[in-house]
Amino acid sequence: MSKNDSTMSNGKAWALILGSSSGFGGATAIELSRLGINIFGVHFDRAATMPQVNEIIEKIKKNKVNVVFFNINAADEKSRGKAIEQIKKTMGQEEGSYVKVLMHSLAFGSLGPFFGKNAADSLTQKQVEMTLDVMANSLVYWAQAVFFAGLFKRGSRVFAMTSSGGHTVLPNYGAVSASKAALESHIRQIAMELGPYGVTANSIMAGVTDTPALRKIPNSKQMLSIAVRKNPSGRPTKPEDVARAIALLCDDRATFISGNLIGVDGGEDIVSYIGQLSPNDLGDGSI
Ligand SMILES: NC(=O)c1ccc[n+]([C@@H]2O[C@H](COP(=O)([O-])OP(=O)(O)OC[C@H]3O[C@@H](n4cnc5c(N)ncnc54)[C@H](O)[C@@H]3O)[C@@H](O)[C@H]2O)c1
Repeated sequence: MSKNDSTMSNGKAWALILGSSSGFGGATAIELSRLGINIFGVHFDRAATMPQVNEIIEKIKKNKVNVVFFNINAADEKSRGKAIEQIKKTMGQEEGSYVKVLMHSLAFGSLGPFFGKNAADSLTQKQVEMTLDVMANSLVYWAQAVFFAGLFKRGSRVFAMTSSGGHTVLPNYGAVSASKAALESHIRQIAMELGPYGVTANSIMAGVTDTPALRKIPNSKQMLSIAVRKNPSGRPTKPEDVARAIALLCDDRATFISGNLIGVDGGEDIVSYIGQLSPNDLGDGSI
């Protein structure tokens, strides 16, 4: 692909969705398949959650597109290399195929304080590094792999899922917060370096959304309840809100939207004061 190539490809479009088996990634895979975009999904699931994964695959297939899911650790270099080889092979079967969308929606982090009651209760170097590797740096390695395989074209899009945790603090969220800040920075860098090739990159900041990843955060019920109180739209964000926004940003008319952090949260993040909390909002401390 050359920097000066000004033609938009009419070839077969694929989306490569990291975190395709649940939450935002799953909803976006389904939504993009409605637009006729073929789907490569990367996820990390055990047997217990495979029925839900297969449901998503079936919904995608109903839209008459191709779908290939890889059940691998997206942060593992060898697994990524093998998946990219298979992706190239699959796409090579149809001339003009390209990656229209690369989406990073991986949730796999260590939750806990930097300063617990003692060192044993506190996040370790390994946990902090693993969280940053999966939730932020893996975006760079996948984007590089797609780029150097020659699979991006003018009009391709890169999206990464961030949260208000990228600019605010929450108990036990230090490593994930750092990942979000790094992820947003990676998106800006990608927007700058791939801009000349006609590839855009944007962070999508979702509001608090009831997904398996949220339920792992201590006191997530209270977070959800407070988010609803804060949200001018009167309800929490749903994965489908984000999926539809991403579909919108895939439109050819969105070609000049790049390097941004785009909120898809019904306005939740702009509200800082919601008055007195009720006992209901505070819950019983369990999730
Ligand atoms: N839920 C929220 O309230 C919220 C809000 C804003 C941003 N986000 C962010 O959105 C992203 C997706 O979160 P979600 O709520 O949809 O989570 P989710 O738990 O519903 O989905 C996470 C996906 O990531 C995959 N995954 C996790 N670790 C992996 C690994 N090592 N290799 C391959 N696949 C892996 C899972 O298989 C799954 O498909 C995360 O980055 C999260 O921080 C979530």
